[in-house]
Amino acid sequence: MTTLSFSLLLRLALFVSCLSFLRVQAQRPATDQGLKDHFQGYYPIGVAVSPRSLQGPEAALILKHFNSVTPENAMKMGPIHPEENRYAWEGADAIVRFAQEHGLKVRGHALCWHEQTPPWLFTDADGKTVTRDVLLQRLREHITTVVSRYRGKVYAWDVVNEAIADDSTKFLRESPWYTICGEDFIAKAFEYAHDADPDALLFYNDYNTERPEKRERVYRLLRKLKDAGVPIHGVGLQAHWSIFEPSEKELRAALNRFSSLNLAVQFTELDVSVYRWEKFPRARRADETDAFTPALEAQQRQQYTRVFNIFREYKNVITGVTFWNVSDRHTWLDEYPVKGRKNYPLLFDQQLQPKAVYNDVIGTVAP
Ligand code: GLA
Repeated sequence: MTTLSFSLLLRLALFVSCLSFLRVQAQRPATDQGLKDHFQGYYPIGVAVSPRSLQGPEAALILKHFNSVTPENAMKMGPIHPEENRYAWEGADAIVRFAQEHGLKVRGHALCWHEQTPPWLFTDADGKTVTRDVLLQRLREHITTVVSRYRGKVYAWDVVNEAIADDSTKFLRESPWYTICGEDFIAKAFEYAHDADPDALLFYNDYNTERPEKRERVYRLLRKLKDAGVPIHGVGLQAHWSIFEPSEKELRAALNRFSSLNLAVQFTELDVSVYRWEKFPRARRADETDAFTPALEAQQRQQYTRVFNIFREYKNVITGVTFWNVSDRHTWLDEYPVKGRKNYPLLFDQQLQPKAVYNDVIGTVAP
């Protein structure tokens, strides 16, 4: 080969590699974009996290795709306030610190709930059920301490979680909160939270809120709170959904009903199970398989597309959408209601890669 043809070849090679570099650069903005970027101009996209997920590849995924976090368990009363005179701040502090360092919003969850409560809460030193006054005083002390600590750092709180009864013939759940204090533990919880941080947005949060009978009972509670002048600013619809529900009609009806109260509406715990909703834990049946078959994947893609199309229509009403867990590698639905039955409810797979449904969701807001 002559020197001339060699240098020509070299130039050609340089030119080609330059071209492909430019092509990669041109593509880069698209591939660097995460879910949150596609939903800019819509609402923040959140995710429920544990302190463990704030490092390594999961942290990278969180930072790429989400701009809001909710502590999955760390701020619940049991974990954060294990003994009457002791708070355990480590987990919640780590999540809030991570969010502050990276400019993410934080939704606080949850100040008053009947589950994951600490053992000391409802009884006195002799093991006797406490009086209404004592319990309200404990609730006030808890809410004041937690909300004050994160004042200015947590922009929204789920103040009361799941106060409506599962039994559709009843109104409020017969939790110790209700049986000991009566109905106004709900209003009180909001007042305590508002006193501790007047700038925080305060939410009532519940599940199955698209089922007409539950929707109406939640509506009734919210209406009462609003009419009584209670400082409540939003309703959290948990959105633990499945490939079977809600229907488009139910979802629209819920959005219309709740937004008519002039409350912010957020979907706070979104996942789309590939199994039917069941309330009570049970053992896995021998004939039960748990593969993510192409048929299930197709149904899940349709359901996510349906709901995100509706979210787009209601973008002026919805102020946040949070997924409950990061990826299919770990979801609470692996343990509940059937322990050890694998579920695949999220947009990222067990290797933390976007599933096909990820592109469907983005497609609902594509320009
Ligand atoms: C409810 C609670 C959440 C979480 C889920 C299950 O929806 O609000 O905090 O415990 O159940 O993980």
